[in-house]
Amino acid sequence: MRITMIGTGYVGLVSGVCFADFGHDVTCVDKIEDKITRLKAGEVPIYEPGLDALLDKNVKAERLHFTTDLAEAVKGADAVFIAVGTPTRRGDGHADLTYVYAAAAEIAQHLDGYTVIVTKSTVPLGTNREVARIVSETNPKADFSIASNPEFLREGAAIEDFMRPDRVVVGCEDDRAKDVMNAVYRPLSLREFPVVFTGLETAEMIKYAANAFLATKITFINEIATLCEKTGADVKDVAKGIGLDARIGGRFLHAGPGYGGSCFPKDTKALARIGQEHAAPQRIVEAVIEVNESVKRRMIDKIFELLDDKAAGKKVAVLGVTFKPETDDMRDAPSLTIVPALVGAGSDVHVVDPQGKHEGEALLPNVTWCDDPYIAAKDADLVVILTEWNEFRALDLQRMSGSMRTAAMADLRNIYGAVRANEGGFTAYQGVGRG
Ligand code: UGA
Repeated sequence: MRITMIGTGYVGLVSGVCFADFGHDVTCVDKIEDKITRLKAGEVPIYEPGLDALLDKNVKAERLHFTTDLAEAVKGADAVFIAVGTPTRRGDGHADLTYVYAAAAEIAQHLDGYTVIVTKSTVPLGTNREVARIVSETNPKADFSIASNPEFLREGAAIEDFMRPDRVVVGCEDDRAKDVMNAVYRPLSLREFPVVFTGLETAEMIKYAANAFLATKITFINEIATLCEKTGADVKDVAKGIGLDARIGGRFLHAGPGYGGSCFPKDTKALARIGQEHAAPQRIVEAVIEVNESVKRRMIDKIFELLDDKAAGKKVAVLGVTFKPETDDMRDAPSLTIVPALVGAGSDVHVVDPQGKHEGEALLPNVTWCDDPYIAAKDADLVVILTEWNEFRALDLQRMSGSMRTAAMADLRNIYGAVRANEGGFTAYQGVGRG
């Protein structure tokens, strides 16, 4: 199969590299010349474990190409994937589809022979039909079908998720498109990974419903955590106790500082907006969005309490600022709410993150960046664990607490627990929802 991938952002790049690894001939297109030049030189613009090696392997095998020339890349392709950004539109929470529609119009001008145009970007209901309309309008002679193929990969585990998915969802409504999509995903269906075919709107809805459900699950346990703190229950054990029920499942039940990232915040807002527009308000999702904001504020209260409500002049070490480990992504990270609150209250904030500095420097002004958690915590009044990077999971607590001015810890990812923290010399400790 000849595949063209429009957009070399997170989803586009990972999908393009993985499709090439399946054995397809893939051309990735981006308008940003510098990005393409760097990709051609084997330089991966994002931090994603394993991506650079896989990219290198497939470039060397001459199955993976990079270009800024969309016209050339679209000619002769069996499938053209649109994987451009759909950020939240300013003001109304709706997904901004400008880039998707612009890509559709541009692709339409260069189609040559039967082509399936596949939307991989997360798009609201009806977008794929609008893409079809734009393509037909731009090029009335175009021989094409539309397919919706939402992506379910997680940052930090993207290659594994792409290569071993729980399922692949394809929305398409004619047999020719189905044949092409079956051929694209044959390397997965041969190994019994389910490929689910649906209508276009259903595929679009599956993506939003999946992300909203996962965000709801996290928010549910975060709200239960608040109640655990008031009642003496332990949310970790509650999560285990309910998660062992196969109907509930134990994953995505880790209480923490609220979900962040490039997907859940954007997609919950978009789904709420779609619901309002169709007079079918998604009240649960609306509550999830609201509760998630209050979770972040609750974390700030927790931190200030550990500082005896006197944050001014105190030194605080923040371990982790990316929205989750194994990524350099800072989008909607809880740190973007929590760190400025500390800086605003006059604390001297020292920050450590294995990958977050590059993006974080501009987003978190007036903090000191350190490479080492022990240096960050030296003479500090509080250490805040905000992202559960592996290097923060086995800290030498004695060494850290011994060098602090006040040995207090806000463990917002529940790594240590009060007993271990106290044994490690911390005199004050707060986790999330742990009685
Ligand atoms: C999420 C979905 O998990 C993917 O399936 C989906 O493809 C992707 O969005 C997308 O739409 O592109 P991602 O945002 O990379 O993936 O990260 P997650 O691992 O889902 O974590 C999201 C947020 O939830 C993070 O802030 C994380 O810390 C938080 N989280 C996750 C919790 O607080 N508790 C949990 O138990 C799990």
